[in-house]
Amino acid sequence: MARDGAVYVCQSCGATQSKWAGQCPACSAWNTMVEETQVRQPGALAPTKASRQRGLAFEGLTGETPPPPRIITGIEEFDRVCGGGVVPGSAILVGGDPGVGKSTLLMQVVGAAARRGASCAYISGEEAVEQVRSRAQRMGLADAPVQLAAETSLRDIVDGLKRARLDLVVIDSIQTLWSDAHEAGPGSVTQVRAAAGELVRLAKKQGVAIILVGHVTKEGTIAGPRVIEHMVDAVLAFEGERGYPFRILRGAKNRFGATDEIGVFEMADSGLREVRNPSALFLDTSGERAAGAAVFAGIEGSRPVLVEFQALVAPSAYGTPRRAVVGWDSGRLAMVLAVLESRCGLALGNRDVYLNVAGGLRINEPAADLAAAAALASSALDVALPQDCVVFGEVSLSGDVRPVSRMDSRLKEAAKLGFRQALAPKDAEGGPLHLNGVLRLADAIARIGGGNWDLSS
Ligand code: TYD
Ligand code: MG
Repeated sequence: MARDGAVYVCQSCGATQSKWAGQCPACSAWNTMVEETQVRQPGALAPTKASRQRGLAFEGLTGETPPPPRIITGIEEFDRVCGGGVVPGSAILVGGDPGVGKSTLLMQVVGAAARRGASCAYISGEEAVEQVRSRAQRMGLADAPVQLAAETSLRDIVDGLKRARLDLVVIDSIQTLWSDAHEAGPGSVTQVRAAAGELVRLAKKQGVAIILVGHVTKEGTIAGPRVIEHMVDAVLAFEGERGYPFRILRGAKNRFGATDEIGVFEMADSGLREVRNPSALFLDTSGERAAGAAVFAGIEGSRPVLVEFQALVAPSAYGTPRRAVVGWDSGRLAMVLAVLESRCGLALGNRDVYLNVAGGLRINEPAADLAAAAALASSALDVALPQDCVVFGEVSLSGDVRPVSRMDSRLKEAAKLGFRQALAPKDAEGGPLHLNGVLRLADAIARIGGGNWDLSS
């Protein structure tokens, strides 16, 4: 192998350059450039004689392609996010903050898959076998035929996996692996990239599905994995707000399924519990709804989910009013506030504004605009929305309320949970709920302020 000499690699984004720098020129992170020795495979890209002779064989788009086979693990929330089970020979990266529950989730996944007859292994580079075993036993997996190992040497892992005939392997975590072909330390971009490359190749060759665990750095990217995301077939993010038991598994990339799926779990004493009906979890249906609360009928992946937006508009104690938001985009909040102010005459400019999505869920849909606006207006005007009303709709800068995707599913889910009316775009007609349709945000605010609801609850 030819040595190219020392290069400096950004540990955050993987950018390389020949000189050290205090700040990465690519991602602007400070103190992330670390010297690593790069090893180049000689002639990796040069066409070989054989490939030149074979040439390219083209095929048409027509023709039958059977769907890939799947290993069904039996943890439904996980299987769905993977696109209906794990594809044999695929590589999946599961990323998340330390302590969010990645090891717990994946032990349950291999445990459940092993019980269903798949041949499964769990390789830990972070904990001793005894630790992993005692945790599995606490989670009620003592009888699951999972093979455990504690190993960090990439060479030993690859050799072992070549000999064992396995269907599904978890490697916890990619940052603990080291390969003796590289001088950089474990967790460095060079090592992570080398280990991932080798394991992905092995997965394809042996037909074994490999799940790699990756820890996320402070910046929210999986350390190193910006550089390995393109190598794996699927990237799943395991998220959870501190202080809440809910955990959400979100597909960020998936070559074998949709990427907007979520799986919902609850962390309990004996591991993670699947949550089949997230709306019931995120929504407190008992008691009166206070001023400042609005129930948003959202869609997460393929499923409708109802969550409560809570707003508090308060007099500002300081010159610069505070804007704090949890679970929603702060840029979007600024936009909704500006539209409320300039199109609806609701002066919030010199008031503190707090907005919170209850339950620890993070909402990314533009459809939540109207729910946020309704919660803000309800708090500012000190008028509660009807108890039995859900809200959704996109708000444009001109102050229009725009239709959103899958309005039917949103209304149906709300009806199922006992809601009777909706504050929504005018086009959402025909659903099972009574519709308070609005074309403009100002109409919605007038309705909230005047307590002007068609159904009095
Ligand atoms: P873990 O899976 O080790 O997190 P990660 O691998 O992402 O770093 O989970 C650690 C947390 O989960 C820890 O704070 C304790 C909690 N936990 C439970 O609450 N119940 C359980 O049954 C288990 C196994 C963990
Ligand atoms: Mg762990």
